[in-house]
Amino acid sequence: MEQTFIMIKPDGVQRGLVGEIIGRFEKKGFTLKGLKLITVDRPFAEKHYEDLSAKPFFNGLVDYIISGPVVAMVWEGKNVVTTGRKIIGATNPAESAPGTIRGDFAIEIGRNVIHGSDAVESARKEIALWFPDGPVSWSSSLHPWIYE
Ligand code: TYD
Repeated sequence: MEQTFIMIKPDGVQRGLVGEIIGRFEKKGFTLKGLKLITVDRPFAEKHYEDLSAKPFFNGLVDYIISGPVVAMVWEGKNVVTTGRKIIGATNPAESAPGTIRGDFAIEIGRNVIHGSDAVESARKEIALWFPDGPVSWSSSLHPWIYE
């Protein structure tokens, strides 16, 4: 089953949005396979965002991600990468539809509350980086009530 890496950024943690955000993924029917509260250092944040290292906003983005603890998660389910991005909303909260996490809880692109992998391959890389011991292996008894 497909997995994605989801991170509640430091603003989401500081603003008390952890329960709200986890609740949205849970209520959708996705399965939580990894969860930790962690403050990362600059080299780690730079590694996570290495594809963006040439962008003008890169240093500010790294400063933001290391500014406090983040909630790192692995979520599993059918099409969870694409659907997770829909739940999160557009990168710029000004363009995120109401009902999405960024549309409901964020105003600025540089404080957009949450990260979600943009493709199955980047999810695989990000899960390996953040959860080197791998996600937790378990199966939810709700499976037959969510999948036909
Ligand atoms: P990106 O991977 O393009 O977006 P997403 O998080 O939706 O996959 O960019 C990573 C983060 O960089 C984004 O969540 C917020 C920040 N960012 C800026 O601060 N300014 C910008 O102009 C862009 C494009 C992104």
